[in-house]
Amino acid sequence: MNIRDLVPNSVQDLNLDPLWLPFTSNRQFKEQPRLLVSAKDMHYTSIDGKQILDGIAGLWAVAAGHCRAPIVDAIKQQAENVDYVTGFQLHHPAAFVAAERLTRITPQGMGHAFFVNSGSEAVDTALKMALAYHRARGEGTRTRFIGRERGYHGVGFGGISVGGMVANRKTFSGALLPSVDHLPHTHNLEKNAYTRGEPEHGFELAGLLHIKRHDEVGFKMLGQRPDMRFGLGVEISDGQRGTELVHDLGTAVGNALVVGNADDQALFAGQDR
Ligand SMILES: Cc1ncc(COP(=O)(O)O)c(C=O)c1O
Repeated sequence: MNIRDLVPNSVQDLNLDPLWLPFTSNRQFKEQPRLLVSAKDMHYTSIDGKQILDGIAGLWAVAAGHCRAPIVDAIKQQAENVDYVTGFQLHHPAAFVAAERLTRITPQGMGHAFFVNSGSEAVDTALKMALAYHRARGEGTRTRFIGRERGYHGVGFGGISVGGMVANRKTFSGALLPSVDHLPHTHNLEKNAYTRGEPEHGFELAGLLHIKRHDEVGFKMLGQRPDMRFGLGVEISDGQRGTELVHDLGTAVGNALVVGNADDQALFAGQDR
């Protein structure tokens, strides 16, 4: 059987109904479906025969180009040899070879790989690893994650929680991870446009925890649950205000922890207790 025989050549013969597309207005898409039927190197071919330059490498998934012979050949060889081995207590030697080759090109200190199926799964796994790491070294109370406004970290609950895209979060806001704060985004054209190398602006953002949420939400929560164990970081670079907030919240929960100050640029630390 040729797999191509299963796929109709025209949109009219295709049942579009059973499949939902992510981040897509499905009704609109199905009224005017945009279908790509093949690809080679930098181009897709659409169902009506047009060549389309793939400027985003399939959302960065095929950076080496589409359907390149050495890659197709490697996939084919592997599928013919063994198609799947679980990683639960067993594995295939090629996975270790891939991990070894990967860690040769990763930065110093990143000497291990953990393979997953998508960016979303990678993000949720990384969040879990961070929690597990601190727990294993006796700091299981270190559970606070810091994300960025406007950041995108995929579609898992962890990724949406640390992500900062309002439209992605609002439907699920009642069910996201509880211990997450967001820093301001670095995108600032006035300060960052046309810089060479790393812009000078931006460093200070590492020390800003978006205090607004605490002002509006945190205080309310604390008011309702004075016993709640709640850690925070504060805007120390804004000296007076930061100190006041630490003091207020520190009094409220008895455990706000501040490390360093604006002078020595150890800007803040927050800790759950
Ligand atoms: C930074 C970042 N994290 C996570 C993801 C999610 O990856 P995936 O779509 O493979 O789940 C993306 C995808 O664009 C991403 O850019």
